[in-house]
Amino acid sequence: MRVLVHIDDAEQWREALAERLPEAEVITSAAPAEQRRSADYLAVWKPSAELLREPVALKGIVNLGAGVDALLNNPALPREVPIVKLRDAGMAELIGDYVRYGLLHFQRDFDRYRRQQARHQWREHAVIDKADWPVGVLGLGAIGARVAAMVAADGFPVHGWSRSPKTLPGIHCHHGDAGLEALLERVKSLVLLLPDTPATRHIIDAQALARLPEGASLINPGRGALIDEAALLDALGEAEDETTGRLRGALLDAFPEEPLPEASPLWSHPRVMITPHMAGPTPLAEALDQVAEALRALEAGTPIDTVDPRAGY
Ligand code: GLV
Repeated sequence: MRVLVHIDDAEQWREALAERLPEAEVITSAAPAEQRRSADYLAVWKPSAELLREPVALKGIVNLGAGVDALLNNPALPREVPIVKLRDAGMAELIGDYVRYGLLHFQRDFDRYRRQQARHQWREHAVIDKADWPVGVLGLGAIGARVAAMVAADGFPVHGWSRSPKTLPGIHCHHGDAGLEALLERVKSLVLLLPDTPATRHIIDAQALARLPEGASLINPGRGALIDEAALLDALGEAEDETTGRLRGALLDAFPEEPLPEASPLWSHPRVMITPHMAGPTPLAEALDQVAEALRALEAGTPIDTVDPRAGY
């Protein structure tokens, strides 16, 4: 089989995949056009439409990331070709650390202390126990479920939400529209780990934000399109301290347009922290173990979880 790899640092990925899959010929998009055209499989992250259109007899696509939104929104995506995506592959642990950092940032008042420092103000705040700091995790896929478990192990009560019912040990699981409303009403921090699909776009809108208790915080290592940005800015209010506005602060890693445009008001909001989509970089070794396994399964016709393009994940 011929596999075409396309991602930043493609050469490094090509070499490492070739080692794991000696039966395959692994090329990158730098290979000559006739080789690209005869690729049986693509292992890609955000390929261009031109690249997707080239192979004449494509048998499968492996998405080199957890979110398939970019791939599914590509106008040149061939229908009927099975897509396999990475599931966790070491990303959940990294994202879990990002979320823990965010939770402690708000629960231990680091946001307040940062602002106080700018005013040379020495003032201690009483600690609210983790047990009294319920956390909501929207999205209980491979990453959301693992992150929920990490946060629960730290001692936070965790409420998880998915569209259809799920049961996870140690997590209060909610589902459906009513479940989402119930979850929003009781969490002090809300973590977004849903896929970007037509059903989840702007799931955090003015109404959802209004359901959060006064002083709640938002952590988004998922996808930017989950949040209605105008509603978020409204809920934050403009003040430096969280005396106005119902939302205490937000830690945001994903945006509808990346890089976040220079003119975005989020950059300079005093209660927003911005990171450049770094919460869960794909660890090469674990990812490539999954890629090799997926390619072998696709080639042998053995069962493997594939993406449902209608559901969007
Ligand atoms: C990164 O955002 C991914 O989907 O893997």
